[in-house]
Amino acid sequence: MKRIFSGAQPTGGFHLGNYLGALRNWVELQHEYESFFCVVNLHAITIPQDPQELAKKTREVARLYLAAGIDPQVSTIFIQSDVPEHAELAWVLNCMTRISELDRMTQFKEKGRSQRENTGVGLFDYPVLMASDILLYQTDLVPVGEDQKQHLELTRDLAMRFNRDYGETFRIPEPFIPKIGARIMSLSDPAKKMAKSDENPNGSIALLDDADTIRRKLKRAVTDSGTDIRFDETRPALMNLLTIYRLLTEQTPPEIEEHFAGKGYGQLKGELADVVVEFLQPFQERVRGISDEELDSILEMGRERARNEACKTMDEVKTRLGLSGSGAPRN
Ligand code: AMP
Ligand code: TRP
Repeated sequence: MKRIFSGAQPTGGFHLGNYLGALRNWVELQHEYESFFCVVNLHAITIPQDPQELAKKTREVARLYLAAGIDPQVSTIFIQSDVPEHAELAWVLNCMTRISELDRMTQFKEKGRSQRENTGVGLFDYPVLMASDILLYQTDLVPVGEDQKQHLELTRDLAMRFNRDYGETFRIPEPFIPKIGARIMSLSDPAKKMAKSDENPNGSIALLDDADTIRRKLKRAVTDSGTDIRFDETRPALMNLLTIYRLLTEQTPPEIEEHFAGKGYGQLKGELADVVVEFLQPFQERVRGISDEELDSILEMGRERARNEACKTMDEVKTRLGLSGSGAPRN
């Protein structure tokens, strides 16, 4: 059976873009693939985090995975720092990654390069840790949003480089980027993606926002000129709202256009708020319904399964590199 690996950071508010661009697809794909879904807390510390808050968010994200429909009997859900091989492989891959390759990463350019003086090395190195996550599990497919495409290309390059230099060791993963929803835009600025780090809280709808907050944010969402409700590429703010509506209602564009014929932005925003609230309320109830004990046992099981696989790959990597320690064959 082919493998999937994906992950998300336990920082900020997990939002509708994360769900529509990534999580939703994980839920669908988990039955066709052997799946590993990770809460990447080692990635989170590439920028300073409050320890208590980080610990809390890490568990919260695992709950969101479960509430979205990841089935722990079918898929492996685990926390990155529970499997030390991620950091171990990252070191090995670091030694094979060129500085110039990381310097080209657009995410780093956006997040770190502007303040080079006080940016940690970890942020620069972030894509190598991500490559390690993926390659440790001999992953075939990585379902992510559009913003991760470049990191996936680096992952493939590193895997091919290792295989070429030390012999076939890693499977070469492919990205899975959905045709619709791979880049949900900010509600307050349709030129920017919806992001956890957005300083304007009205730009994104968090999966744990209450109904009033959701309605208020959608009411304030910016719109373009023009009044009719159509799937029109030249009106990015409208396209974004319609994309969210489309994905949550599973209706086709013609059906949606017909439904909103003769109606305006106000009506669309109101109905979209209903749709989002109707989707998120039961979701939030499921989040609250997961007890600490249940979560502990799921994460414990996940850690065991993940480590088991990660160790197999790491043993092979070490042998390939001549890193075998005590107990290794002598020559
Ligand atoms: P992150 O928030 O960076 O931890 O991202 C977790 C997952 O959500 C990744 O697969 C991202 O590509 C995806 N993602 C993040 N923001 C968006 C967005 N605005 N639209 C679609 N997918 C997104
Ligand atoms: N970099 C990803 C993001 O910010 C999160 C991530 C870390 C990831 N490791 C991964 C995604 C491995 C897929 C596979 O969204």
